Amino acid sequence: MCGIVGYTGRRPAGPIVLEGLRCLEYRGYDSAGIALFDRDGQLYVARATGKLDRLVQRVEGTLPPAVAGIGHTRWATHGEPSDANAHPHLDPGGRVAVVHNGIVENYRELRRRFEDRGESFVSDTDTEVLAFLLADHLERGEDLLDALRLVVAEAKGAYALLAVDAQEPGRLVAARVGNAGGIVVGHGEGERLVASDLGALIPHTRRVTFLEPGELADVRADEVAFTDAEGRALEKPVEVQPFDAVAAAKGRFKHFMLKEIHEQPEAVLYALHGYGTSPPRVEVQGVPFDETRVRALNRVVLIGMGTSMHAAMVGRHYFERFARIPTEVDNSAEFRYRQPVLDERTLVVSISQSGETVDTLAGMEEARRAGCPQLTLCNTPGAQATRVADGTVFMRTGPEVAVASTKTMAASMMLLHGLALHLGRLRGTLDPALAAQQIEAALHVPAAVGEALELEERIAAIADRYARSEDFLFLGRGLGYPLALEGALKLKEVSYIHAEGYAAGEMKHGPIALIDERMPTVALAPRDEVFDKMRSNIEQVRARHGPVIAIVSHGDHSLDGLASDVIELPEVDPLLTPLVTVVPMQLLAYHIAVLRGADVDQPRNLAKTVTVE
Ligand code: AGP
Repeated sequence: MCGIVGYTGRRPAGPIVLEGLRCLEYRGYDSAGIALFDRDGQLYVARATGKLDRLVQRVEGTLPPAVAGIGHTRWATHGEPSDANAHPHLDPGGRVAVVHNGIVENYRELRRRFEDRGESFVSDTDTEVLAFLLADHLERGEDLLDALRLVVAEAKGAYALLAVDAQEPGRLVAARVGNAGGIVVGHGEGERLVASDLGALIPHTRRVTFLEPGELADVRADEVAFTDAEGRALEKPVEVQPFDAVAAAKGRFKHFMLKEIHEQPEAVLYALHGYGTSPPRVEVQGVPFDETRVRALNRVVLIGMGTSMHAAMVGRHYFERFARIPTEVDNSAEFRYRQPVLDERTLVVSISQSGETVDTLAGMEEARRAGCPQLTLCNTPGAQATRVADGTVFMRTGPEVAVASTKTMAASMMLLHGLALHLGRLRGTLDPALAAQQIEAALHVPAAVGEALELEERIAAIADRYARSEDFLFLGRGLGYPLALEGALKLKEVSYIHAEGYAAGEMKHGPIALIDERMPTVALAPRDEVFDKMRSNIEQVRARHGPVIAIVSHGDHSLDGLASDVIELPEVDPLLTPLVTVVPMQLLAYHIAVLRGADVDQPRNLAKTVTVE
């Protein structure tokens, strides 16, 4: 959370830093700010509460011809969103400016040290003290990079930090401490950039270097040096990134969320890359384990957060069914603190669109310490998760810009299906006839997802009827249960309607008390082995006058007349139903949010990548 960006070079820094912030705004939009230095070390600072546009308006026509600058887009952790709490933060003498992503855990003690000396702070943040500390070390004669190293040794926590000093205006220094925020350095012609992630660099250069936790960078327009936390010089490679920035444009769609929902047929198609029909076999790219290694496994643990965890819950069905291996799913934030029992026979598979989610990275570190083989499913080239795991299965959906994840959920589910078939084959647990049938069925999914998108008009009409509801219930069983959780998550995050997802069998154990004529229930009722049970649950809701939107299999009219609205899914194999069920729920959430006037792509209080605990 929070995006940081810096520039040093021959072009005016101001517009480049602002443009970088535009690319990082999805990481937080409580406030934005910029600090620029001209050649003489004259400082220009501007900050504005709210979205980046407010800052852009504020600085219009006033940007100096700066040689270097830093910028920040904030997701508030310490201190409310306000101009005073917006970054960059300065020391009292205005010598240094810092921007920061993550949390400084001992900031109160550190502040007290300065307050005891009679100095005062202008913000409530955990960041401002970093500027005080840095300036303090500089005043004692330390070099800027050494001063930064001393600061990160004192300031505990997990964060990324970027700073400039008025006495060396063309020099930026950056540090990555722990896993709570990425730092990438971009190498241009006569210029260098630093940012939280690739998105802000790609318009300028594809040649980049990622900082690992515990590393620092000393960045000038025509040279860069890397060190570890002890000051030892590091040789770090320059990687060339094949990132498609064009894909990050909204095109004909009103919102990124809608565009990304509509990109799901392609997302699924790419995920089917390793599926072959003659002979029928799946070979997912990015799995570095051979048959011996896979046969030695006795357990799989899938970890993720939010939508990625819901995809993992679908994946568990596939792993158990095809690879016949005991499989658990855990929320990364719970997993990391539970002292899980892990060893080298446990395969840990993390799912993360960003590959930078702090809890998922911490769970991966826990697995690494225990010697577990690890795979990660990730959509972001160069993300930290891809550097921790033994193998990365890339989602290849192109950038997902809307805060609400959609196409990466589809890609994750499809890749987990493939991964389970792949591991089942290597383990010798997969019946070849089942493999052939599933491969055949999977190849039909992109078209089925396309057909599900054709339901949009009908779903928009349903959305119109329910948009004024204040509570929603989502019910599902089996493969429908994670989808019920996902439907509820999508609706609450983009429309701010209170929504709960439940395993339908749980309904009578409490949630049924909520049901009345004002509380719609979305019931996932495809024709599977638990359909009759689902039907009974729908009857129970209707008996209490609750409206029911039923999502049913292709050609199933048995709930017509019972459910208030019936959405018929396209034809698809029962095991692959989640890939199509998710589409109407995404569309329902989207259209309700639009009708309620919500900020669909950047919902309040959220950020796309959660890099703080
Ligand atoms: C989904 O709509 C949410 N924005 C959120 O739950 C997200 O899936 C979660 O934060 C995990 O992110 P990741 O996939 O980047 O790790």
